Amino acid sequence: MSQSRGQWSSHMGFILAAAGSAVGLGNLWKFPYIAYENHGGAFVLVYIGAVALVGLPIMIAEIVLGRRSQLSPVGAFLKLTPDRPGHRLWAAPGMLGILAGFVILSYYCVIAGWTLRYILMSVSGQLATMVGDGSFNDFFGAFLADGPQQTLWYTIFMTLTVGVVFFGVKDGIEKVARTLVPLLFVILIALAVYSTTTEGFGRAMTFLFRPNFHELDRGAILEALGHSFFTLSLGMGAMLTYGSYMRRQDSIPKAALAISLLDTAIAILACIIMFSIIFTEDMEVTKSSTILFTTLPQVFFKLPGGSIISGFFYLLVAVAALTSTISLLEVVTSFAIDQLKLARRAAVLLTGGSIYVFGLLSAWSLGASDKLTNFNLIGRDSTVGMLGTLDYLASNWFLPVGGLLIAVFTGWVLSRKASHEEMSDGHGPLPWYNGWQALIRFVAPLVVGAIIVSVILGAEYQ
Ligand code: PFF
Repeated sequence: MSQSRGQWSSHMGFILAAAGSAVGLGNLWKFPYIAYENHGGAFVLVYIGAVALVGLPIMIAEIVLGRRSQLSPVGAFLKLTPDRPGHRLWAAPGMLGILAGFVILSYYCVIAGWTLRYILMSVSGQLATMVGDGSFNDFFGAFLADGPQQTLWYTIFMTLTVGVVFFGVKDGIEKVARTLVPLLFVILIALAVYSTTTEGFGRAMTFLFRPNFHELDRGAILEALGHSFFTLSLGMGAMLTYGSYMRRQDSIPKAALAISLLDTAIAILACIIMFSIIFTEDMEVTKSSTILFTTLPQVFFKLPGGSIISGFFYLLVAVAALTSTISLLEVVTSFAIDQLKLARRAAVLLTGGSIYVFGLLSAWSLGASDKLTNFNLIGRDSTVGMLGTLDYLASNWFLPVGGLLIAVFTGWVLSRKASHEEMSDGHGPLPWYNGWQALIRFVAPLVVGAIIVSVILGAEYQ
């Protein structure tokens, strides 16, 4: 290990940092709303299947590539490819990962910024007042269209992200993850325990866990698969980059399993919390994609201690989002460190600064600027506007294509000896190694290939 590369100080440090990357808006904002839209039960089951059969093997693959190469994505693929003509083409998945990190971070920080405003509004009592006098209904749309407000919260969130990555792996990322990830679990479990006392808890459990397969269409299956990439931070080298800081004496398969289990548990806990409240109040959810920001607050303030529950809840979402944005920036920054040979601090300021400027386009695309709001590259409803377009490109194209290439590379280009050695170092005997090989060589590429083909053919996947 070269001196300039950081390293996690413990196995738990790695698991917490990687789980922090995985757990984010994908779990707390996106999963509950797509699970709700797709009628729970069967969708949840397919999603869990996708995490187990595609997500987990690819996560192991990414960490293997990272620890083996000790490099960030672009360098990792180049270093691990046998020196044959055309081998430099394998820089492509790495470059795609950098691009994905750049794009996702730019709009993710916009949404994450809203959580900061919600914490403040909860604590100051403003949210309670607005919900009380009915003015909250108009608040959200006006807030989105308010350019200076969007810029402000986005800037604060981006600054927090840049600040943490600036201090490096051990002092920045690991320290934050060590404190914040356990805090996140505590708040979430407290809210889940609270939700068991609500009337809607039983209905929420039935909705989530009783599969109704006739309600499941092809689009829902594809959506569940695609979301498993986003939520586990796969397909763009985030886990690869974090894996490059992992110690050799730690077990890769165990870490990947722990991260996947934690991520899935959090997504399901979030659903239990939100659906219990929604069913208790018998709320009519008109627009599920805004449950987190428009429906939930109205419900919080019908409950005793609304401001406290609400403040805690948005703190939880902000924490989860921050540990994810850190990993997104780390991918782009470690590229600048490894490939452009920049010092960490210069690299962070350069990459964070350029992503910040690019992200302003998303921040102003929710009503502040007509041009950006009506930006329409893809031509589907959900993809209108700069933020919608970038999310569509990243989730539907960059991550699945990246995941496919990572699976193919690890299964077919990297030698069996190399992957076996990397997986057994820190773990011991691997009786199921051939099973993993089958998943990474055949199952994952075929399933992900099917997603990509269906997107090309225009199937509903978002
Ligand atoms: N996994 C994060 C979430 O669920 O919110 C989002 C994410 C982070 C995607 C890092 C990709 C990534 F590399």
